Amino acid sequence: MSAELNPREIKKYLRTQSLGNQIILLKEVDSTQNYAKLHLSDLNTGALLIAESQTQGRGRWGRKWHSVYGKGIYLSLVLKDAFSPLALSQLTLLASLSLAKNLESKYRLGFKVRWPNDVVLGKEKIAGTLAEISLGALILGIGLNVNQNLQELPDLATSIFLQTGKEEDRNPLLAGYLNQLEEDLSSLQKQGHIFLRRLWFSFSSLKDKEVVARTDQDLLEGKVEELSWDGGLILRGGMGYQFKLNLNELKEIRLK
Ligand code: BTN
Repeated sequence: MSAELNPREIKKYLRTQSLGNQIILLKEVDSTQNYAKLHLSDLNTGALLIAESQTQGRGRWGRKWHSVYGKGIYLSLVLKDAFSPLALSQLTLLASLSLAKNLESKYRLGFKVRWPNDVVLGKEKIAGTLAEISLGALILGIGLNVNQNLQELPDLATSIFLQTGKEEDRNPLLAGYLNQLEEDLSSLQKQGHIFLRRLWFSFSSLKDKEVVARTDQDLLEGKVEELSWDGGLILRGGMGYQFKLNLNELKEIRLK
């Protein structure tokens, strides 16, 4: 059995000003996202909620996030500064890009981000992010598969343990990600879209690929060319015309 999550251990490795200034560890919760919303008035900006297990962990499009006890990192961060729809799509993407960058610097396995929010290794998903707004606060939820074995994961998912064969202490791993995320949030604040686009160019799994995307209304096909200023995806269709996919209208995206 790998080490339990432990706020004191996490703090040992944290070098942040804001993220993790308040840490709440839950052994079991329905969803750390729900907990954050319910207790918002008692939570600082930068508060970190972590759970050893979730009974109703959720992902985008109402999907379930498998949250086996003691094996993964299931967290929500509370960001209380004024947030807009622009921040919602930019931060969803930033949280994933930052995680891919952090994991890549540590493991060198080829971590990429499948727009808008999946962290993948090839076709397998290892992490996902979910940004939600509640009473003007942004709740950033992140799930990372760390020590799960094959039976503890859904299809087409992987974990760090499955990739390296070694169990990982989640405390320094989590702190290392928060250190990275805070640095990248600050760069996004200072440089805006230019920073996000640069990161996306380095870590996008879809750049220059032919994809099929499903929205509420359409099935769209095209080659991924660019990241738009608001965190959308710009594609070139078969007839040579460009079109944009917005985060809020996307239902599914896959390689053609
Ligand atoms: C996705 O891949 O669609 C997003 C997954 C986000 C999962 C995390 S786990 C912690 C937080 N609590 C939840 O219920 N969901 C997020």
